[in-house]
Amino acid sequence: MRSHDVLIVGGGLAGLRAAVELNKANVKVGLISKVHPLRSHSVAAQGGINASLGNHPRGDYDTAMRHAFDTVKGSDFLADQPAVVRMAKDAPLRVFEIEHWGCPFSRTDEGKIAQRPFGGAGFPRTCYASDKTGLAMMHTLFEQMIRYQQAAERQELVVYSEWLVIGLAVDGDLCAGAVAMNIKTGEVDGFRAEAVLFATGGAGRIYGNSTNAIINSGMGMAVPYRAGVPLKDMEFVQFHPTTLCGSNILISEAARGEGGYLLNKDGHRFLADYPDSKKAMEVAPRDIVARNMAREILAGRAVEGTHFWLDLRHLGEEKIQKQLPGIRDLAIRFAGIDPADRPVPVQPGQHYTMGGIDVDRSGASPLKGLFAAGEAACVSVHGANRLGGNSLLDTIVFGAITGEAMAEFIAGHVRPASADKALAEAAARGREAVERLLGGGGAEDPVSIKDEMKKTMMEKVGIFRDRADLSAALAKIRELKDRYRRVGVSFKGKILNQELRSTIELGGSLDVAEAVVAGALAREESRGSHSRTDFPKRDDAGWLKHTLAALAPEGPRLSYRDVELGYFEPAERVY
Ligand code: FUM
Repeated sequence: MRSHDVLIVGGGLAGLRAAVELNKANVKVGLISKVHPLRSHSVAAQGGINASLGNHPRGDYDTAMRHAFDTVKGSDFLADQPAVVRMAKDAPLRVFEIEHWGCPFSRTDEGKIAQRPFGGAGFPRTCYASDKTGLAMMHTLFEQMIRYQQAAERQELVVYSEWLVIGLAVDGDLCAGAVAMNIKTGEVDGFRAEAVLFATGGAGRIYGNSTNAIINSGMGMAVPYRAGVPLKDMEFVQFHPTTLCGSNILISEAARGEGGYLLNKDGHRFLADYPDSKKAMEVAPRDIVARNMAREILAGRAVEGTHFWLDLRHLGEEKIQKQLPGIRDLAIRFAGIDPADRPVPVQPGQHYTMGGIDVDRSGASPLKGLFAAGEAACVSVHGANRLGGNSLLDTIVFGAITGEAMAEFIAGHVRPASADKALAEAAARGREAVERLLGGGGAEDPVSIKDEMKKTMMEKVGIFRDRADLSAALAKIRELKDRYRRVGVSFKGKILNQELRSTIELGGSLDVAEAVVAGALAREESRGSHSRTDFPKRDDAGWLKHTLAALAPEGPRLSYRDVELGYFEPAERVY
């Protein structure tokens, strides 16, 4: 059994930022990740990070409260306002901190951090490192982690790469550690810790067309969910308007922020035809743009019925190369199109999980000792629709806050004698589950189950939803869960058995998918990313509340919690 003061699950931005905070407080940290930390999905974040620096002349009047207001309005008033205000207030501090650690942000002519327009602000607020902001931030934080690892006066920070967390140990009302499988060897072990942080990212891969990395299976949400921690607001799933047609690789909102146009098959900037996007056009919030693209598809005005043109040609090659080199490279490599010469084919694709593990403003879940941060968590700062540029911000703001809260938690915590027994039992259950899959399993094919899940989520739980589709989706996911009980793996080896890893994760994906569908079916209104054609209006009287899904034997058991207001009255969203 390995032992640390704190175990961090996930090596992306939120996990690394928490690790740095904990190490500053002399806490012994183990950081466990399915992949090497620098392969975490945070590296794929492109366009930028929001902070009210006011460095651009068009946004020099910006303030933290304006940022907070835009975030709350973008969330369709479902975000918890005190948490949003905290995030917006901490934003400049955290951006300057990572700048001072060496993050290579793009610069204005005066040498300040450059800012570009993103959806929902109306002026440039999004700080960026060309169009590789997540990558730049990850490398900076990774260096900080190494700095702390090497500083003689600090405590340990051990990284376990390519370990998959498959379970939690719960001792009464306390999280007693985690159980993980070494993907390289098949070994299953218990990780003793006084507190555990889940910073495992989103669940995009429950959908067929997603910008998310393959690793974003939802397993990091499923493990706490199975241990009794509710998932919050899972029905809110963001579709990014511009993903590369076919592969769904992200084509950053920065492309539109820098002035790109979205055209339908007639070469028309169709966003002008819709009341909610006719003013902000391509930089309207994502839920609005993606919905209007879906309407164009339904009206038969999409190119070949599936996609649109993202036209950047008028920006000129020099600007494209300077501001958007990454997406230019992606378009050339994956679509054979140079955006300087030809428009890029794009379509909406799943991008972000607004819901997640239910935590409070300090990252604490209802299970004592269990914390979450970043996309895996739902604080909630994004409500029903996240603004572009607030995801990177969420990771470093709440990574730091949660790291600090965990250090405080363990300082006052005495581990009961029973905790180690609970962990040993959980590890034994984990070993049995892995052996069961390897030793025999059933006849059901995991690949077919996964494909059917992804297709169901795309076709029936996408941008537009209604009762008939959602009911059919729920029945289908339950059928798949039933078949999963008889799943088998064909390759029985223990060394780097990716079939075994992905089959274990598939069970988590199905649990998470079921929570998404159940929440969406129950929520009889339209708000942010959740668009019910049978309930087209937002209903504040009935639904200004968070959904909490607790896993029961029959599936998700739903309850509700009021949204925290206090700063801004819910109003119509006008852009
Ligand atoms: O479009 C993008 O660059 C994505 C940014 C985000 O999701 O915040």
